[in-house]
Order: sequence, then C-alpha cells, then structure tokens
Amino acid sequence: MSISKEREHELILAASRVREGAYAPYSGFRVGAALLASDGRIFTGCNVENASYGLSMCAERNAVAAAIAAGARRFAAIVLVADSPAPVSPCGACRQVLAEFGDFPVIMVTTNGEREDNTVGALLPRAFSAGDMS
Ligand code: THU
Repeated sequence: MSISKEREHELILAASRVREGAYAPYSGFRVGAALLASDGRIFTGCNVENASYGLSMCAERNAVAAAIAAGARRFAAIVLVADSPAPVSPCGACRQVLAEFGDFPVIMVTTNGEREDNTVGALLPRAFSAGDMS
C-alpha cells in the first residue's frame, strides 16, 4: 500500500528536520528517520552516537522506539534522510527491528534529493520472526 505524495513530503521534511539534531560527533554522519504509523501519526528519530562506539543507536531504531512508546504498532512507511552521495539503506539490525512490525515502504533520500524506494520485506527477506519460535 502506498502513501500520498503529501504524506511523503511531510515525512521527508520531518526526517530532514530531526536529522539536524543528530548526535554524531564520532562519524560526523547524521541520519534522520520519520516513521508513519497506520493511524496517521509521524514519529521521528536521529542517530545518537557514544564514545563507546558500539552503543551508538541508529535513527531508524530511535524512531521505532518513539512510536512504540506512544502506543503505535502498525506502520505505513519510513523515510530516511542522510547527506550521502547515494541514498542510505538501513543497517541489518534496523532491518530486523523494522521487520518486527511488518512489511511497509522504505523511502531513502539524500539531502540532494536522490531517492530510492524499497520495502522492509525486500530489504530483509526471510527475517527471523515470532513464527520461527512456534
Ligand atoms: N546510521 C543510521 O542512523 N542509520 C542508517 O541507516 C545507517 C547508519 C548511523 C549510525 C552511526 O551513528 C552513523 O550512521 C555512521 O554509521
């Protein structure tokens, strides 16, 4: 299911805005994410790095955490924004976390307007899921 151009634009703006606040003193690479819940709410997240590098958290997972804390469980799309030569694709850990909440569009854009459209399911085929434990 696709979302309207207006909503896409709102998500891109929200992800761009939250990216400005990213805490990335080690990599210098700021990422913003905007997650559209099925009820219409938008949740955002930016990357938050740490001097203990491995504790750094990606923008996508911070957006998921904000959404879950607010009671959202179903999602219609996620937009990622980064200042990179090509659109940034979610890391493996983020793919698994997104897949927990279904298969929805992943829209990756650069600050220069390059864009790539994909889906959670295509980015992480055969994800580990609750069904694997039953
Ligand atoms: N990062 C994200 O926040 N999301 C991605 O999709 C890729 C990578 C962050 C993690 C780290 O703070 C920085 O980008 C460099 O890896």
